[in-house]
Amino acid sequence: TGYVTLDTGFVNTASCTSAITYIDGDAGILRYRGYPIDQLAGKASFLETSYLLIYGELPTATQLAEFDSRVRKHTLLHEEMRQFFGGFPRDAHPMAVLSSAVSALSTFYQDALDPFNPEDVEISTVRLLAKVPTIASYAYKKSIGQPALFPDNNLGYVENFLRLTFGVPTEDYEVDPVVASVLDMLLVLHADHEQNCSTSTVRLVGSSHANLFASVSAGVNALFGPLHGGANEAVLSMLNGIHQSGGDINAFVERVKKKEPGVKLMGFGHRVYKNYDPRAAIVKKAARDVLERTGGNDPLLDLAMQLEEIALADDFFISRKLYPNVDFYTGLIYKAMGFPTKMFTVLFALGRLPGWIAQWREMINDPATKIGRPRQLYTGAPERAFVPITDR
Ligand code: CMC
Repeated sequence: TGYVTLDTGFVNTASCTSAITYIDGDAGILRYRGYPIDQLAGKASFLETSYLLIYGELPTATQLAEFDSRVRKHTLLHEEMRQFFGGFPRDAHPMAVLSSAVSALSTFYQDALDPFNPEDVEISTVRLLAKVPTIASYAYKKSIGQPALFPDNNLGYVENFLRLTFGVPTEDYEVDPVVASVLDMLLVLHADHEQNCSTSTVRLVGSSHANLFASVSAGVNALFGPLHGGANEAVLSMLNGIHQSGGDINAFVERVKKKEPGVKLMGFGHRVYKNYDPRAAIVKKAARDVLERTGGNDPLLDLAMQLEEIALADDFFISRKLYPNVDFYTGLIYKAMGFPTKMFTVLFALGRLPGWIAQWREMINDPATKIGRPRQLYTGAPERAFVPITDR
């Protein structure tokens, strides 16, 4: 306690030890529990990856089937929780609805909230994984004025979510297997990213021994911001803006380089990656595949690719080691799948959920954990004498 160091934004300060995710930002390497992301993406399903992150090992076929069936059993929301959605304004942002609803889970499952009771943690883990897709789809249905569907537990995790989102009660919904497998892979790519803003938030809130739902709902709010998960939405607004104003990419890049207030190349740059984000390379390829599949040749994809090319050849971006991050191309895929822009960050939250859970569990079980309590360097007034209001 002798001295305090200032590290605004925690650029050089580790807040914990962790055995979950490894990133080498200079080399562009990302591994979950030792497995390189490019080996998991497209091969391990999202639930399989969730199991890996949470329990530390890839599941056997039996373990995965058992985990999957436990999650499927909990997809329904409490009936009173369904009414909850009626109270929000119709144009509410679904991220705000999601964080509120996740927070509200603490009110419905009060019997199982003890962070130090392994059974409580286990059932909360399963409830969260099972209910967040239902909540997310209800937030969407509410925004478009359609009735919410009940989950169909004959369907897999992503298929169920797609049906809940795009299905209507009056018709059968056929899941497009290509869309489902790409969405599953995108969730895998987002599943954990060590101590990012939202995960650090989940750990910090949890370090006060707040329950898992309370901690994760704080994480959803941290993810909401445009410098973090909200970037996927911001990228699409940026691309739309450039497109609608005549498509002059160079003019936009000049504005970024002049650092006009609020003008950034969204979807570029990362605190840790000073090289191509390995997830972005995978997403870029998937973007082409999905757009070909859905038959739409979105002019925004060409625009994004040209923008990337121009930026990567420009000294401003080269000298600052700014490369596309995971969010640069995801929005285009979500759009091609039919998701409105407001849902993009919700999809990120769905993906990041197992990471938040795994990190919270690691934090709670680590005997070295102390309540998170950063210090400060005080810059205010020195001691001064109180002046009565009549003399001011
Ligand atoms: N466009 C233009 N300039 C940028 C950008 C960008 N996207 N990102 C960083 N810079 C510049 C910045 O102005 C600074 O320049 P200078 O050295 O002249 O002052 C330099 O690069 C270093 O940037 P920084 O702001 O110190 O970097 P940071 O580590 O604090 O911020 C970041 C990281 C991701 C917040 C930032 O790169 C950014 O705002 N990017 C756009 C938003 C975005 O895409 N976020 C998603 C991140 S990946 C997924 C996730 O984590 O959610």
